[in-house]
Amino acid sequence: MHLEYTITELPAIATKILETSTSKNILFFGEMGSGKTTLIKEIVKQLGVHDTVSSPTFSIVNEYMSDDDQTVFHFDFYRIENEQEAFEIGLDEYFEKNAWCLAEWPENVKNLLPLNRTEIHITILDMDTRKLIIK
Ligand SMILES: Nc1ncnc2c1ncn2[C@@H]1O[C@H](COP(=O)(O)OP(=O)(O)O)[C@@H](O)[C@H]1O
Ligand SMILES: [Mg+2]
Repeated sequence: MHLEYTITELPAIATKILETSTSKNILFFGEMGSGKTTLIKEIVKQLGVHDTVSSPTFSIVNEYMSDDDQTVFHFDFYRIENEQEAFEIGLDEYFEKNAWCLAEWPENVKNLLPLNRTEIHITILDMDTRKLIIK
């Protein structure tokens, strides 16, 4: 599915992703500034999380709890040095927990990604517009 959107359409896009994803492991591909964090924040909000969501810049993963006690993990593999680092935090187990796992820069841990997953590919069309493909 292909979708084009501006920031004002972001809530609808997040809803669409939650409705269509057949997996709770959702991987977000796209260059720096394409809007992975922005979109994940909206998805986390729609899952019923009220914590402040910030990009996990200083750690690989942030954990949130929703109103109805669903666990949400937000990964950012941008700064990871090598896959061993992700392996050591038990990344494979996170993906098996049946929790929401929303990951930025999944290409940096490509050998550790679960088969059970939805891929979101974002490209920048212009300053305000993004194109997204759900796989
Ligand atoms: N349609 C859009 N969707 C998401 N972000 C957008 C959009 N249009 C403009 N932006 C801007 O692009 C930037 C995306 O940043 P961010 O979400 O941190 O990207 P990433 O996590 O992919 O590096 C933000 O400053 C946001 O306001
Ligand atoms: Mg980001």
